[in-house]
Amino acid sequence: MNQHTTANIDTDTAGAPREVWGSRLGFLLAAVGSAVGLGNMWRFSYATAEHGGAAFVLFYVFLTFMVGVPVMIAEFGLGRATRLSPIGALRKAGGSAWVPLGYLFVAAGFLILAYYAVIAGWVTRYAFDAVMSPFPPDAGVYFGEVTSGITPVLYHLGFMALTILIVAGGVKKGIERVSTVMMPVLGIILVGLAVWATTLTGAGEGYSFYLTPSFEELLSLDTVAAATSQAFFSLSLGMGAMLTFASYLLRDTDLPRESTIIALSDFSVAFIAGLVVFPVVFALGLQNAVSESTVGALFISLPGAFQAMGATGRAVGLLFFGALFIGAITSAIALLEVVVSSVIDEWKMDRRKASIAMGIIIALLGILPASDINILGAMDAVASEVFLPLGGLFLALLVGWGPPSRRLEIFIEGSSPAIRPLMNGWLWTLRIAVPPLLVIVLSRTIPAGIGAIRAIGG
Ligand code: TRP
Repeated sequence: MNQHTTANIDTDTAGAPREVWGSRLGFLLAAVGSAVGLGNMWRFSYATAEHGGAAFVLFYVFLTFMVGVPVMIAEFGLGRATRLSPIGALRKAGGSAWVPLGYLFVAAGFLILAYYAVIAGWVTRYAFDAVMSPFPPDAGVYFGEVTSGITPVLYHLGFMALTILIVAGGVKKGIERVSTVMMPVLGIILVGLAVWATTLTGAGEGYSFYLTPSFEELLSLDTVAAATSQAFFSLSLGMGAMLTFASYLLRDTDLPRESTIIALSDFSVAFIAGLVVFPVVFALGLQNAVSESTVGALFISLPGAFQAMGATGRAVGLLFFGALFIGAITSAIALLEVVVSSVIDEWKMDRRKASIAMGIIIALLGILPASDINILGAMDAVASEVFLPLGGLFLALLVGWGPPSRRLEIFIEGSSPAIRPLMNGWLWTLRIAVPPLLVIVLSRTIPAGIGAIRAIGG
């Protein structure tokens, strides 16, 4: 591409040409698209069900804004200041000792996308099935069918092909365009479904489980760990995704404002998804199926509920899984982008080749979790509950305790003066509160991750 005729090409801090977003809104919707995904509907629902409902939700909101937002600002700041993808950005900001963290980020991208695309494949199958025929009466058996044999592998590969196609299209013409069109659609569908859910008889119990807190569960460190890793996963933090997206920004962006908007949107989508899931599931008496903490729980209880509702259930099922599909594809492209942008920067490969090559490797890796749900569970336990908090911990140390001039530049540049006092608060949270919290989280999730790997065989 020609630098002089294309407005959307700029240069990185090493002087190489770099793509930039088409507009502020485009960047924002792409970042929201990355954040909003399976995490908001699938993972949020089962984490909430498993950890006691409303109290977990309250704690989760608190963490999103107190911990999620400052870590997001730190990632955004690093990306924008260096205009490089994670490996290069960390090398530039911290020196070569920080390069391994960049590789950890890329590894997280590989692992998460590999199983994420498998779940997205199930979602795609459910959306198709809602159109083609009523959901089968035995939801458990149906889930077994969707997730075993060759079909999940094929759906996974199809989903990866679509992801590769979009990322190969580029930052502005691929990622930004898809997110700008799709995110509003997702929002409208979900709000519509939440309104519809209020009409269900028997929904009341679902609302009260979801919205009336009982605080016993909160005292447990496991709940704290679950809410923290859920916040990191849902906000796409701890693996350089937000860093990568910010590397395509020009300098005049108010990062704290954008981070707050993204966190608010991400939380709202999760919250509204809960306003659909819990009434539906409780109205049909299927709550026990969700709180069994297996990855498939939501995929059994929801189709079960939709099946019991007849024709309405099919329409609602299509809308629900359609919205979930949109969330999944806009997140999958961001996951692949972390890997692809690193390969482009580090190996000077062109975007198209990098997208195809990396996409194929990830697609092949995904055949494992597509064939065995225990492998999928273990990958989630390791990548999202260990790698992301670990990445967040080191990011907080680098940006919070790095050279003071850098810190200020990263954190404050471009933000409006009105927000400065808040910024100081966040900077202190990042320095003082985030590292010990993440150490506590890791002390819980590392043994759990090891346990999940051990469980694969048996
Ligand atoms: N936030 C995504 C979701 O909620 C999942 C995710 C985790 C992600 N890390 C990411 C997406 C990095 C894109 C990039 O579904």
